[in-house]
Amino acid sequence: SATDGIPDPALVVLVGASGSGKSTWAASRFRASEIVSSDALRAVVGSGEHDLDASADAFDLLDRIVAGRARRRLSVVVDTLGLDPTMRRAWLALARETGLAAVVVRLTAPERVVRQRNRERDRSVPAAVLTRQLRSARRAMAEIDAEGWDLVVDVVHEPEALPRERAPRPV
Ligand code: CTP
Ligand code: MG
Repeated sequence: SATDGIPDPALVVLVGASGSGKSTWAASRFRASEIVSSDALRAVVGSGEHDLDASADAFDLLDRIVAGRARRRLSVVVDTLGLDPTMRRAWLALARETGLAAVVVRLTAPERVVRQRNRERDRSVPAAVLTRQLRSARRAMAEIDAEGWDLVVDVVHEPEALPRERAPRPV
C-alpha cells in the first residue's frame, strides 16, 4: 500500500508471538486467497486450528501452497509464528528463486497487551507457552535485520486514542 511500501508480487513472512496481531494485519492488507495460514491448514487436515497433532501435515501443505503461488509470481503471505530461523531462510530462498520481493513483517505489541488479548480469546495459549514465544520473538526480531530481506516492515501496537479535550471555540 501507499504506507508500507510492500511491492506486488511479494513473499511476505509474518513474525510475532500468538496474539501479536498477525492474522488481523494480514486480513486488513491482503486478499484472503493471498494468505496461507498454518492455523487454517491445521483445521483443514486436523480437527481444528489448535490441533497440534496436525502440524506436520499442515506445514507440508503450507510449503506447497507458498511454493505454488511464488512460482506463478503471485503474492503470498505466510501466516505462521515465523519464529523458526530455518523456515525463514527457506522462504527467503524461495523468494530469491522465484524473483519475488522478500518481505518480513514484524508484529510487536507490549507483553501486557499480547497477554491480555490471549486471555480474551476462545482458545488461549497457556501462559508458559506464551512466555517462550515472547522470548523467541524478541530473539527473532533481532536476527531478522541480518538475514538479508529486501524489506522489513514493523507494525507496532498503537494504544487506543485517549478522548481529547475539546478545543476552545473561536470567538
Ligand atoms: N487484536 C486487536 N487489535 C489489533 C490486533 C489484534 O484487538 N491491532 C486482537 C484480535 O481481534 C484478536 C487478538 O487480538 O482477538 C489476536 O489477534 P490476531 O491477529 O489473531 O493475532 P495472531 O498474531 O494472528 O495470533 P495467532 O498466532 O494465535 O494466530
Ligand atoms: Mg493468527
